[in-house]
Amino acid sequence: RKKVTVTRLAQMRAEGEKIAVLTAYDATFAAFADAAGVDCVLVGDSLGMVCQGRSSTVSVTLEEMRYHTQCVAQGLERHASSALLIADLPYGSFHQSREQAFASAVVLMQAGAQMIKLEGGGWTVEIVAFLTERGIPVCAHLGLTPQTVAALGGYKVQGRLPEEARQMKTDALALEAAGASLLVLEMVPAELASSITQELKTCATIGIGAGSGTAGQVLVMHDMLGMNLGRMAKFVRNFMDGATSIEGAFAAYVAAVKEGSFPDDKQHAW
Ligand code: KIV
Ligand code: NA
Repeated sequence: RKKVTVTRLAQMRAEGEKIAVLTAYDATFAAFADAAGVDCVLVGDSLGMVCQGRSSTVSVTLEEMRYHTQCVAQGLERHASSALLIADLPYGSFHQSREQAFASAVVLMQAGAQMIKLEGGGWTVEIVAFLTERGIPVCAHLGLTPQTVAALGGYKVQGRLPEEARQMKTDALALEAAGASLLVLEMVPAELASSITQELKTCATIGIGAGSGTAGQVLVMHDMLGMNLGRMAKFVRNFMDGATSIEGAFAAYVAAVKEGSFPDDKQHAW
């Protein structure tokens, strides 16, 4: 399999090939995800919940992200993998200034990340431009942004009201203009996610609980393996159902994303 690069992601988007993304937090799971054909491995700050047992991602530090990014990068490197490695900038690591964001992004790039993800719109646009101008590929993230769950008042669908939907579209276009390669849309009505996907010219949308109209999909690995200590989100499918191995579950996920059978009418956030 050829290396997945930003160029390859743009080509997939242009040709309508769905992009399959999974989170991973350690070397072995990352290498298995890659072997199953996952296009991008995301070291998400969801590790605060699934690895550390916290109730939100807010407490995750840059040093913790660096450590897990390095673990995943080493797993991918040892197995001559193809997947592109994306790492989350955690809460507080990019909020003060463009300079702080750049320094934090460099820490993750030096640990082996090939793209940096950061949550939010509006004030983040100048940060995204600052990073992309300096050669750091960026994945933006709109809709339900878990780092600001306190301000949002819970984990719930975003962009239902017309003015919220308009704002999200404006933010998406601005993030694309600032150079974002990918845009995660989390817990967004399918119609809005599709419409944003259509309006963007180069930036590929990656949905989670955002319907099937996005350019790609992402799930938290533990969730799609049916491992959740709390209540499983409605938009998750357990890919261990019918699989005989974890690698089989990953392969089933990739196949379902590529053929467009995940998500279906049952896997939505609303
Ligand atoms: O942290 C994470 O795992 C994420 C994805 C769910 C998009 O941000
Ligand atoms: Na995240």
